[in-house]
Amino acid sequence: MFLASGAAMTAVAVHQVWSARDSLAQSEKFLNLYTARHYDADNQVYEGFFNKTGIKVNFVEAPADVLIERVKSEGVNSPADVIITVDGGNLWRTQQEGLFQKVPANSRLYTAIPENLRDPDGYWFGFTKRARVIMHNKSRVKPTDIARYEDLADTKWRGKVIVRSSSNVYNQSLVGSMIAANGEPQTEAWAKGVVANFARKPEGNDTTQIKEVAAGIGDLTLANTYYLVRLARSSKPEDRDIASKVGVIFPNQGDRGTHINISGGGIARYAPNREAAIQFLEYLTTPEAQQIFAGSNYEYPVLQGVPKDEVLASFGDFKEDSLNAKIFGELNDTALKLMDRAGWT
Ligand SMILES: [Fe+2]
Repeated sequence: MFLASGAAMTAVAVHQVWSARDSLAQSEKFLNLYTARHYDADNQVYEGFFNKTGIKVNFVEAPADVLIERVKSEGVNSPADVIITVDGGNLWRTQQEGLFQKVPANSRLYTAIPENLRDPDGYWFGFTKRARVIMHNKSRVKPTDIARYEDLADTKWRGKVIVRSSSNVYNQSLVGSMIAANGEPQTEAWAKGVVANFARKPEGNDTTQIKEVAAGIGDLTLANTYYLVRLARSSKPEDRDIASKVGVIFPNQGDRGTHINISGGGIARYAPNREAAIQFLEYLTTPEAQQIFAGSNYEYPVLQGVPKDEVLASFGDFKEDSLNAKIFGELNDTALKLMDRAGWT
C-alpha cells in the first residue's frame, strides 16, 4: 500500500502537507517530513515505519536551500516534524538557522549512531554515509599513481584534473575537512595547485565529472562513490561502458582516511508531532530501514553489519576520516571563500 503523499519540488507538495494537517482527523497518527533526498525507494522506509507504528509519513521533497527557506518562512506554524537533508554542511546550516530542536538525551539515536556522524549537541544525526573519492581513468592512471587528496596539486597532473565548481557543497565540505587537517594557508596553496592542474573550467555535476574522465578529457576527478555505482547499475549500455573505464581510489589511507559525508536529519524546531518525529528518526537506525535508506542511493549504512550494495562493496573497504561533520559544516564559509580566492570557479 502506498501511503506517502509527497511530490517533487513544487508548491503543490507544500499544499499537500498543509491540507494533511487540516483535514486528517487528530486520531489518525501522521508526521510531516521535509526531505532533500529524492529516491523512490525511500517510500519503502515510510511504509515500513507505518507498518510498525501506524504513523503515516506525509513528505515534501525539495533541495536543502528551498526547504530551509520554506521552514523559516513558515515559522512557528511550520507543519514540519522532521527535516532531512544531504551533506553535513547543509545540516549545520539548518541548525544555525535555528530550525532543529534537540533530540532528548535518552534517545537511542545517541548510542546507535557513531559520535562523528552526529551533532555533538544532539540537533542532527547522520543516517547514511557517502565517501568522496578520487576517480581515475583506468587506462591512463594506475591506482598507485596517487594516494592523497593533497597529491591533486602535484605538478605532474597539470591539465589532468577535472572538478565541479566551488558552489557545490560536496567540494566545500571536502575542502573544509582539509582546512581542519592542514590549516587554512596550506589548504589555500593546495587549492591553487589544483586549479593550476584543471583540464577545463569547473562545470557540471558529479556524473559529468565521471563521464569526462571516462572520455579522457581529464585523468582524475573528485566524486561521491554512489554516482559511479549508479552508472554501473544503469540500464543503458553506454552508462555501464563509462563506469567500466573509471576506477576508485580511496585517498589518505596512510593518514587521516577518506572524506566521509552524511545524509541526515533532526526534529524540526516547532514539530507538531514531536514524539512521532523521534520514533521516525529512531526507526531510521533499524537494520531494515538502514538497508533501504542506504541502498536506495548506493550509500554506506551508519549501522555496522548492514549489507551494502554489491557494486559499492566491490570498491573495497577503506579507512574513513573520523572528522565530525559539524567541523566541516562550521568551516563551510571559510572553505568556499578560500576556493573562490584560489580561482576554483
Ligand atoms: Fe549527490
